[in-house]
Amino acid sequence: MTAQAASAPADARPSTGAKLLEAEGVTKYFGGLRALQAVSFTIEEGQIFSLIGPNGAGKTTFFNMVTGIYPTTSGVIRFRGDDLLKPHPVPWFPLVRRPLKPFQVTRMGIGRTFQNIRLFPDLSAIENVMVGVDAHNKAGIARSILGTPGQRIEENVTTRRAKELLDFVGIGKYSSELSKNLAYGDQRRLEIARAMATNPQLLLLDEPAAGMNPAEKLELMRLINRVRDQGITILLIEHDMKVIMGISDRIVVLDFGEKIAEGRPEEVQRDPRVIEAYLGKAPEEEAAAPPPVTDEAPTSETPSGMTTPVADGGQDDDDHAAWRRPGNGEEA
Ligand SMILES: Nc1ncnc2c1ncn2[C@@H]1O[C@H](COP(=O)(O)OP(=O)(O)OP(=O)(O)O)[C@@H](O)[C@H]1O
Ligand SMILES: [Mg+2]
Repeated sequence: MTAQAASAPADARPSTGAKLLEAEGVTKYFGGLRALQAVSFTIEEGQIFSLIGPNGAGKTTFFNMVTGIYPTTSGVIRFRGDDLLKPHPVPWFPLVRRPLKPFQVTRMGIGRTFQNIRLFPDLSAIENVMVGVDAHNKAGIARSILGTPGQRIEENVTTRRAKELLDFVGIGKYSSELSKNLAYGDQRRLEIARAMATNPQLLLLDEPAAGMNPAEKLELMRLINRVRDQGITILLIEHDMKVIMGISDRIVVLDFGEKIAEGRPEEVQRDPRVIEAYLGKAPEEEAAAPPPVTDEAPTSETPSGMTTPVADGGQDDDDHAAWRRPGNGEEA
């Protein structure tokens, strides 16, 4: 799981030290199923912070709680000091309070992409990004119908900004293509452009490298660094260890809903609990019981059924080190 020199070193751009997102004791049950148990960590402004762990560890569930999709069972998630999980005043009805809706979380400065790409398939690439820019526009329905000068100016600004973002993520030439016709990797980049269009301070990326080839993954690593260079803090979920180890400032590892490790990439990589979660047994045990000689691709089968391609030196079919349990369930 050697980090590739595809990007600036993770410590090239230290964070400002200001707390941006604080999770404290975050717990989520789906009926009797424990998805997250008392998870706590703090993300500082300017960091590329990664959340990793085997399939079903609770990573996407955490994103869904931050972005107002799921209510929490207990715990606190603060964004710039404001508890996202507590009831907030409803727009226009300040005395009424209810849990934040996803659009309100977006307006507070948190953008996201999805594990299962969620683009508008029959809209062009630029129209998909314009939807994101529009999340901040002021033009109401009346102004839109009347086509007032203010609304036309906003439209021009929206189009220009959307074009800039497509260029930024490297797919400017596909501006008029329907998003459903774009290659998978380009769709993932388009989702990043759309999320950036909402002017986030914090950008949540859920498996952005999924389905990308090795060259696209290197490009993605550079892109994520460039996004951070724009002053946007990144919270990244990813299974590809080269990507994770190559760009993360700090990593939290979840396993079956619990935080089992936190630290810099080199610390997490050596942590026995992390190795055990992924490989199923401690290195000493592995040395004591060498695996049988086989011609098959090197993998480890754990008691929990997690099949693990060997991360360092082993190559899966698209030449990356990804650790997954089989039967990968995606988010609802
Ligand atoms: N809406 C839901 N209803 C019931 N159970 C859910 C729901 N969403 C997630 N879960 C369960 O919660 C657990 C954590 O799921 P989650 O999707 O957060 O895992 P993950 O770490 O993102 O995994 P992966 O790497 O496969 O995407 C899993 O056991 C999953 O089946
Ligand atoms: Mg997930």
